[in-house]
Amino acid sequence: MNKTFDKRSFVFGVAVDDYNFTDREQETRQLCHNFESGINTILISPRRWGKTSLVKKASKFMDSESVMMVHMDMFPCKTEYDFYNAFSAAVLTQTASRKELWMENARDFVSRLVPKISISPEPNSDISLSLGITPATHSPEEILNLPEHIARQKGKRIVVCLDEFQQIGEFTDTLTIQKRLRTVWQHQQLTSYCLFGSKKHLMTSLFGMRSKPFYQFGQMMFLGKIPVQAWTEYIQSHFEERDRHIPAEVVAELCDLVEQQSSYVQQLAAILLSMLSEGETATKEHLRTAFQSLLDTCTPLFKQQIATLTGYQMNFLRSILAGHHSDFGERAVRDEFDLGSPSNIPRLKDALLERDLIEQDGRSVFLADPVFARWFRAL
Ligand SMILES: Nc1ncnc2c1ncn2[C@@H]1O[C@H](COP(=O)(O)OP(=O)(O)OP(=O)(O)O)[C@@H](O)[C@H]1O
Ligand SMILES: [Mg+2]
Repeated sequence: MNKTFDKRSFVFGVAVDDYNFTDREQETRQLCHNFESGINTILISPRRWGKTSLVKKASKFMDSESVMMVHMDMFPCKTEYDFYNAFSAAVLTQTASRKELWMENARDFVSRLVPKISISPEPNSDISLSLGITPATHSPEEILNLPEHIARQKGKRIVVCLDEFQQIGEFTDTLTIQKRLRTVWQHQQLTSYCLFGSKKHLMTSLFGMRSKPFYQFGQMMFLGKIPVQAWTEYIQSHFEERDRHIPAEVVAELCDLVEQQSSYVQQLAAILLSMLSEGETATKEHLRTAFQSLLDTCTPLFKQQIATLTGYQMNFLRSILAGHHSDFGERAVRDEFDLGSPSNIPRLKDALLERDLIEQDGRSVFLADPVFARWFRAL
């Protein structure tokens, strides 16, 4: 029988929920606990492991009668006041129900502005708001206290979730701005923050260094990989529902090929599923073909990523692939891979971290993307 589903079998590249979300029970519980208790959280993982999905999932468990959730992506914010505009708009619109209208929450705050509002006719859709806040209309402190002000008024807690928080490091005069935020936020009673981002070296330097304003701001959570067991149940059930089959050892190999990176697991599973006919069982041969197809899909992007690398940078990636992670200062390693002088090494590292091609863990560096690593090895 040919069944059709309104649900998508596998989803990748965007935040997932419900049917396409698996595992993360313990992390979800921990986040919910922090949200309810007003504990600030800093959530860090490499790219595409599932931070945004996890925060959204935990948010859904909050009882809106006691905790209001505000979500905002800092990625588009290039300056301090870009951030304040997006922050105020997110807080105002997401803490108000449509009926009471967000302006009621902060009459005084809004009365100095000529906001542009667009409300979509669809029920429950977001209100888009551009406020036009400038240093002449509002001080940073007033803006940063807006959630606390609303929380008091409503007698509820507010949790502000800021995605891609490492973006703050790009603002001009970033340390002054960070100090400003920290000073205001640490005195708030009813507002807490969940700050997350994927550039681990930037996130850890914002939060893990004694000299930085955000040092010990909250609980640091490092998101791990979803275990193979959870992927097995998830992938097998999604195959079965479409009358396709996949043995556990094929799932294990699939996970291994992409080092359990969440987004790639789903993408590779989607390709594999699409190759099977009704009633068919996936084999390791199918998997090899599916992986090749994944490589083909990624190749244009990978080519673009290496197009502007220097010879030294390429050599640095090669040395990591050959098993070197921290011993680049040694003469033999530098000579073997032609990495230049010892003073060249930190520059190479910074350039490749900046491009997201490598990840740093303590003093060691690794290739950030497992599929890129396999592609690059085959060059
Ligand atoms: N709990 C999960 N269950 C199943 N798949 C997941 C889960 N979390 C993440 N994924 C997969 O990973 C992809 C990326 O998820 P998400 O956008 O939440 O990650 P992220 O860490 O926020 O990524 P980015 O670093 O790009 O911000 C999803 O599209 C999905 O394919
Ligand atoms: Mg994300």
